[in-house]
Amino acid sequence: MLDGKVAIVTGAARGLGREEALELARQGARVVVNDLGVSGDGTGRDTSAADAVVEEIKAFGGEAVAHFGDVADWNDAQAMIQTAIDSYGDLNILVNNAGFCRDKMIFNMTEEDFDSVLRVHVKGSFCSLKFASIYWREKAKAEGGPVYGRIIGTSSEAFLYCSVGQPNYAAGKAGITALTLSTGFAVQKYGVTANVICPRARTRMTDTGGLLSEMFAKPEEGFDTFDPANIAPFVAYLASPKAEHVSGQVFTCCGENITVVGRPDVTTPENQFHNQGQWTVEKLDDALGPYFASRKFGDGYALPGA
Ligand SMILES: NC(=O)c1ccc[n+]([C@@H]2O[C@H](COP(=O)([O-])OP(=O)(O)OC[C@H]3O[C@@H](n4cnc5c(N)ncnc54)[C@H](O)[C@@H]3O)[C@@H](O)[C@H]2O)c1
Repeated sequence: MLDGKVAIVTGAARGLGREEALELARQGARVVVNDLGVSGDGTGRDTSAADAVVEEIKAFGGEAVAHFGDVADWNDAQAMIQTAIDSYGDLNILVNNAGFCRDKMIFNMTEEDFDSVLRVHVKGSFCSLKFASIYWREKAKAEGGPVYGRIIGTSSEAFLYCSVGQPNYAAGKAGITALTLSTGFAVQKYGVTANVICPRARTRMTDTGGLLSEMFAKPEEGFDTFDPANIAPFVAYLASPKAEHVSGQVFTCCGENITVVGRPDVTTPENQFHNQGQWTVEKLDDALGPYFASRKFGDGYALPGA
């Protein structure tokens, strides 16, 4: 499906990114395997993991090159886009996947916990989106027609459910969603699609030793719902010519299920209240008071099974 295409997968040394890089390569894409090689909380640096994925791809006859840069570093991100162009002459697919967590309740979260998680997710997506978009726009103008471009952003259900112990991560994933879809509006006229996935799979991010590890554990028999390899074919599909008309969407994906969340959309709100002229506090209470009287915070947000 992806013969001749050039892809970048960020954070591709392990977990979901590794599976996505392998699948894109199996489908024929030449892949830039980006990874800074950090630990689960974003500290440290190690190039060996990205190298290992490149070797895995080469072992089955695929083409790949490693890039060890930090996705949230302006110069590194520009160099990453340039690596695709210099190595393989083009860029067609950008999978923004790199990230890490620093989960804490809001009461205990430090400024550094907040800044570092927002940095890797939001700025980390922004930098590559910016330089890829410039490349695609210039190429479309030079060629006088649309290019082949695919953007896949990696958000999370932590954003959709606003998960309580992850205020930094949920905010970062909201940022990725808005940023990816905003970029999609800007680049659609150049032939580029942009979609967002909210995956769920067993990786070191979810293997934290608690309830999540138990929920995501590999079953003794039957389908392994949380195998991270389950997500990769969907990313390859979104990256493929077959998904030409799939754009501006948010999906959740886990195991055997792909759910179209759709585009965050104000045209189909839950409800709308209208007043002729300016609202007063009293009129607002008359209208909204009964509507919300029986609700409490969190209604409609709880994770299934939680
Ligand atoms: N596992 C899940 O259930 C789940 C759920 C929702 C979203 N996600 C998202 O999927 C993505 C992949 O996560 P994962 O579960 O595979 O975790 P993971 O820790 O296995 O992989 C993340 C990779 O990103 C790399 N990385 C981190 N910071 C980087 C940086 N600044 N520059 C380059 N690389 C960097 C890490 O070195 C690591 O290899 C993340 O964005 C995560 O938030 C995962």
